[in-house]
Amino acid sequence: MTHAMTDKIVLITGAAGALGLAAAMLLAARGAIIVATDVAGADFAPLHAAIPDAARLLVIPADVTDEAAFGLVVAKAVAAFGTIDVFFNNAGIEGPVAPIPDFPTDGFRRVMDVNVTGIFLGLKLVIPVMAKAGSGSIINSSSVAGLTGSAGLCAYVASKHAVLGLTRAAAVEWGGKGIRVNCINPGPIDSRMMASIEEGASPGAAAAVHDGFAATIPMKRYGTPAEVAGLVAFLASDDAGYVNGAAYTVDGGMTAA
Ligand SMILES: NC(=O)c1ccc[n+]([C@@H]2O[C@H](COP(=O)([O-])OP(=O)(O)OC[C@H]3O[C@@H](n4cnc5c(N)ncnc54)[C@H](O)[C@@H]3O)[C@@H](O)[C@H]2O)c1
Repeated sequence: MTHAMTDKIVLITGAAGALGLAAAMLLAARGAIIVATDVAGADFAPLHAAIPDAARLLVIPADVTDEAAFGLVVAKAVAAFGTIDVFFNNAGIEGPVAPIPDFPTDGFRRVMDVNVTGIFLGLKLVIPVMAKAGSGSIINSSSVAGLTGSAGLCAYVASKHAVLGLTRAAAVEWGGKGIRVNCINPGPIDSRMMASIEEGASPGAAAAVHDGFAATIPMKRYGTPAEVAGLVAFLASDDAGYVNGAAYTVDGGMTAA
């Protein structure tokens, strides 16, 4: 089977969102057992519908900025399944869309808290579990905004550059212990998050913003969550056994242009 994940224990944050759900579905289809977390009140119904076998899906709500609550998710995963083989460190928010002089400072701080501190806490909590096992694959969700600038999105851009930095720091620190740490850098994906950014960029004219963004992408379209999941599945698998500290774009050629 392509990138087989038979009985691998996979922890996914932001699992109720577009990319988390798509990754959960693909990895489960390839044989993984999924531990899914997202904020309390998130819609976990699509996950349960996609993975109806209760023995292969454990859902534990938590906020990734809450170290104690996030720690409990990791502890419960280990208690239930013994270890964590793969960690999709994915939860993130887009935050406000505004030029820097108008950008709300509390919004900036919130984006950094979720997208940077949340990713840091994920690494802090899961690395010891993988170190004990002597192996593991961590995939952090960065973005093309982690590689290039984007007007109106200073907090998001800064946070996603920081995710690349955390990825490299962790990869260098833990590669020798058998833990691979990589990040994915998706371009615009057809999803709630992009719809929100489009609306923020030009209220009431999201469709025009969508078309304008798409026109700048060499493949002339947004990606799909499933196309991002395909990359996650590769990095999660033993096929990526020597891939560490890398930043993989999945952006239709956007950052090549
Ligand atoms: N959608 C895109 O076009 C795109 C492109 C590049 C990168 N990304 C990144 O991919 C990741 C997933 O994006 P998505 O499109 O699935 O977005 P999404 O909004 O559909 O999903 C993100 C999920 O994270 C959860 N979340 C937010 N704050 C949280 C917190 N404090 N604690 C726990 N969970 C929290 C949300 O509830 C949501 O379910 C994000 O990090 C995002 O920045 C998305």
